[in-house]
Amino acid sequence: MSGFATGIPNACCGRERFKNSDGVVSEMTNRRVFLAGLSGIVASLPTNALAEFATPAKQFALTAGSGMASLIGKNRPTTKVWCYDGRVPGPEIRVHQGEPVRILVKNSLSEGTTVHWHGIRLPIAMDGVPGISQPLIKPGETFTYEFTPPDAGTFWYHPHADSLQQLGRGMAGALIVEEIQPVPVDRDIVWMLADWRLTSDGQIASGFGNGMEAAMSGRVGNTVTVNGVISEAEPVRAGERIRLRLVNSSLARIMALRFERHRPIIVAIDGQPCDPHEPDGGRILLGPAMRVDLALEMHGEPGERYRVVDDFYEGLSYWVTQLSYSSAPPLRAHALDPHLTLPPNPVLEPDLGTAERHIVTLEGGMMGGMGMGGMMGGGMMGQGMMGSMMSGRAVWAMNGTAMNGDGQSDMPPLLKLQLKNSYVLSLRNDTAWWHPMHLHGHSFRVVSRNGTPVPHRQWADTVLVPPKETTEIAFVADNPGDWMLHCHVTDHQVSGMMATLRVA
Ligand code: C2O
Ligand code: CU
Repeated sequence: MSGFATGIPNACCGRERFKNSDGVVSEMTNRRVFLAGLSGIVASLPTNALAEFATPAKQFALTAGSGMASLIGKNRPTTKVWCYDGRVPGPEIRVHQGEPVRILVKNSLSEGTTVHWHGIRLPIAMDGVPGISQPLIKPGETFTYEFTPPDAGTFWYHPHADSLQQLGRGMAGALIVEEIQPVPVDRDIVWMLADWRLTSDGQIASGFGNGMEAAMSGRVGNTVTVNGVISEAEPVRAGERIRLRLVNSSLARIMALRFERHRPIIVAIDGQPCDPHEPDGGRILLGPAMRVDLALEMHGEPGERYRVVDDFYEGLSYWVTQLSYSSAPPLRAHALDPHLTLPPNPVLEPDLGTAERHIVTLEGGMMGGMGMGGMMGGGMMGQGMMGSMMSGRAVWAMNGTAMNGDGQSDMPPLLKLQLKNSYVLSLRNDTAWWHPMHLHGHSFRVVSRNGTPVPHRQWADTVLVPPKETTEIAFVADNPGDWMLHCHVTDHQVSGMMATLRVA
């Protein structure tokens, strides 16, 4: 009312950029565009432009630059990082499904960057791949990203330039697209999981792009943080139901999380809803760039603590954090049904009957080394591999071709796909290492593993392909452009395991 009386914009118009104490950037409606839409220009616009003007874009701003972060805890040395808005992780961006978003990215680094909105199905010009979808954002420049997320879910953003250093030094943030109708949970929280290689004085170790590591597991670090800090405990209350959104933003670390004495239910993978199910063997597998949404029922005892353990690498298990129950009595007498079914997203179902089939063979790397044990133990080189590593040439390839760097390449596409057709790709891993394979611009069905159908209707944008396994994925090529298909172990990506699929 006072807004009306004084002429000062009230909460519904001309909102400013606003961050709450958790650093969540919340809505700032760009009133100008909305008003422009109302003021007479409308009649002269073609209908598709009209649609753009129909809803005001929610606007955000991010600055890429350097900063200091308390990764290893308060009263310990701070770590020099590269990040967004001076913090690690970058601000959590929350928007609504189907709502236009505009994000101004300013580059205050001393080298070029871009932002890739990982998992969002958006137009190619907004995909953030330098040399393919846009030029690098040079130091001091600002680039405006605009898109309308068609799917609700858990996504994230990171650079697609000098990826080893920019991601490895801390540039990543969560991008949450909320369902139009909120789903019933007591709390909706994000754990941005990140892996760092720190020196004894808490600084990021140099040595990015080590050829030996590139040919093996990639740069796996020694410190795992939850939302930017080593976590002793995450507070919870008995009886509450949490939607826990896990994001693995690591360069190379694969995680397998177990929640002691709890029974998490997987309700979405890479942002896309699946049939709610318990993870295989109680372990939630998360390769780099992968996300899993859990419905987690807090049926532990008030005052108790329960560990969240990562035991992916044999003999190297550790706990990521603990669920720390307050002493408060249970929130409710009877637990809610944890089988949270999320509303489906508008992803086109591929037609497996008529789909065109292709084999994509993943090749290269050191042979014979499995997991971290193999990393220490030497192992056989693939043919010509040692020479390649020494000369800095590709150590990985797909169907015999290799693209290096971050995507700046005029290499011909690996495959040409017909717009609107269905495709099945068999990702055949002929290597001794795990590869989280990511396709830009699309979500795909994970159809089978080694010929066995994958249950629970799983969609993904990044699929973890174990050594010597073939994983079949299927999708409708419904988004025109040259889309990256690459391994998200960053060392593998920048040393050859990357290609484009041309959809036209
Ligand atoms: Cu998350 Cu091409 O990457
Ligand atoms: Cu890989």
